Amino acid sequence: MIEHKRRLRIVAKKWETADTATFILEPADGLLFHYKPGQYLSLIFETVSGEKRRAYSFSSCPGVDPLPAITVKRVPNGEFSNWLLSHAEPGDLLTATDANGRFLLPEIQPDTLFYLAAGSGITPVISHLRSLFFGDGVTSSHPVAKPQVVLYYANRDSRNTIFKGQIDRWMDEFPGRFECTYFFSREKNAAHALHRHLNNELLEQLLLRHFGGKLTTRVRRNTQFYLCAPKTMMRMAEMTLRTLDFPEKNILKETFVPETRLPVRVTDRSKTHDIVAIGKNERIEFQTFEGETILNAALRQGIALPYTCKSGVCFTCLAKCTKGEVEVVFVDVTRREGPGNMVNTCIGYAVTEKVELCYE
Ligand SMILES: Cc1cc2nc3c(=O)[nH]c(=O)nc-3n(C[C@H](O)[C@H](O)[C@H](O)COP(=O)(O)OP(=O)(O)OC[C@H]3O[C@@H](n4cnc5c(N)ncnc54)[C@H](O)[C@@H]3O)c2cc1C
Ligand code: FES
Repeated sequence: MIEHKRRLRIVAKKWETADTATFILEPADGLLFHYKPGQYLSLIFETVSGEKRRAYSFSSCPGVDPLPAITVKRVPNGEFSNWLLSHAEPGDLLTATDANGRFLLPEIQPDTLFYLAAGSGITPVISHLRSLFFGDGVTSSHPVAKPQVVLYYANRDSRNTIFKGQIDRWMDEFPGRFECTYFFSREKNAAHALHRHLNNELLEQLLLRHFGGKLTTRVRRNTQFYLCAPKTMMRMAEMTLRTLDFPEKNILKETFVPETRLPVRVTDRSKTHDIVAIGKNERIEFQTFEGETILNAALRQGIALPYTCKSGVCFTCLAKCTKGEVEVVFVDVTRREGPGNMVNTCIGYAVTEKVELCYE
């Protein structure tokens, strides 16, 4: 099968705030667990209504931390975050996928890495920061000039700010190289903090001030942005950055909240499409009905293609289309993708009679 499930044992559970804990994990299957800073794994839960999955970003960094760790924040009424925080304990076994995700450090070293995070959105950012300060950092070969790192981090107050102690220590340890501004909605006069909501105007002001009042071509080209926050905040930040002419390719986003407003298509069982899914050592052929996503068709037939959110936000299900055409239906846009393009199979519908997909 194209997807491989892993067994991980919880070796420690550390409370970060009243509603957030870090779980340190070790492979229970004797194999190494490979991941990169900024990636996530998906936990797989067996329930009476079938298998359910949730993604959790690594808060640890390979090469710096001996074991992988995830950090989970309680979502009110959330099924699995509550189970993990209230019931999962050291010694318990979890089923997971391999690591996934594209929220990765750049290959070419920029002058500045700018992070915008809110709440649990800090998790993949912390993994990056651990790599930048204590590990290989950006994968460029230039060892001397280290990029400047700036973090804007929004929370209710300092008590509910995940990893605050660590971030404060790093500000002392790496002055001139790392700075963080907290945005607290419910706390005044905290150190390094503004009692403000981050909006377009404030973000623009802060960015201009940070870059000495002027955004030069070099600044625009050599600043890499990473956003991991609620959708409204990320949309606001992206709009501001685009208005300030930062290139789209320099803005990387990670979304935590699954999309619930996806358009639903009517299934027509009288029409079918032939799909070929090619993995490293395997080739699987199956059919989809008209109006059925490629992923749902595979799962219905017991074929284990990779996925997590099933709603177009996590990219676990990505495959490269090598033949035929697929319509990928996001909430606000539908894209027709052909050979050479990546498709989200969870929201991807075959258009042509035959479609070939490659899982790298
Ligand atoms: C790529 C990726 C990485 C992620 N990394 C982390 C991480 O490092 N730490 C972490 O705590 N979570 C992370 N998440 C979110 C996580 O996968 C779950 O969605 C979250 O734990 C809620 O699951 P649940 O079963 O408790 O809630 P559910 O029962 O699935 O949801 C209950 C309600 O809460 C809403 N909801 C779901 N997730 C969120 C959320 N994150 N914030 C606000 N509302 C939500 C749902 O729309 C639903 O209405 C990540 C998600 C993705 C896609
Ligand atoms: S499963 Fe998350 S994007 Fe398809």
